[in-house]
Amino acid sequence: MEQFEGKVAVVTGAASGMGRAFTERFVQEGMKVVLADVEAGALEQAVDELKEAGGEVIGVRTDVSRLEDVEALAARTIDAFGAVHVVCNNAGGESGATFADIPPRPGTGSSASTCSGRSTASRPSCRCCASTRRTATSSTPPPSQAWTPTS
Ligand SMILES: NC(=O)c1ccc[n+]([C@@H]2O[C@H](COP(=O)([O-])OP(=O)(O)OC[C@H]3O[C@@H](n4cnc5c(N)ncnc54)[C@H](O)[C@@H]3O)[C@@H](O)[C@H]2O)c1
Repeated sequence: MEQFEGKVAVVTGAASGMGRAFTERFVQEGMKVVLADVEAGALEQAVDELKEAGGEVIGVRTDVSRLEDVEALAARTIDAFGAVHVVCNNAGGESGATFADIPPRPGTGSSASTCSGRSTASRPSCRCCASTRRTATSSTPPPSQAWTPTS
């Protein structure tokens, strides 16, 4: 993707650390950015600071280990910006398995960054990718393996 201006990025774990740094860079490039983080206070502060700097951003409080949170994140993103071009799947740990092989764990209630969290955050983006063919992520299975909700 050569032209970033006006494109839409979603960053998980965006309130601090590497996620915050990715977000700042995307804003510098003129992208619209959805910040997702489990820490509501830090998320609000990050969104406020980026808006003050001229960024077109929104924050969505999200625990990536909770499938319903991630589904809501996808819906809020489309409502706000109409598309997703980059998913920066930053929050979460490593499990060693491929995303397609890790089952979703809806309703775990865990606020910790878990091994399944990063795979859970990938699933709506896989579906979005399958439907729009426009989403770029570094870690999604091909559209033919895209996850479809069962209920
Ligand atoms: N920093 C490094 O050197 C390094 C190296 C290799 C891999 N990583 C990985 O990169 C990612 C980010 O690292 P970092 O150093 O910036 O971490 P960090 O702890 O500075 O920031 C992580 C952010 O993710 C948020 N978060 C935690 N659990 C979450 C959840 N369940 N849902 C949504 N948000 C959640 C936190 O609130 C925080 O804002 C991590 O997955 C880490 O394992 C980091």
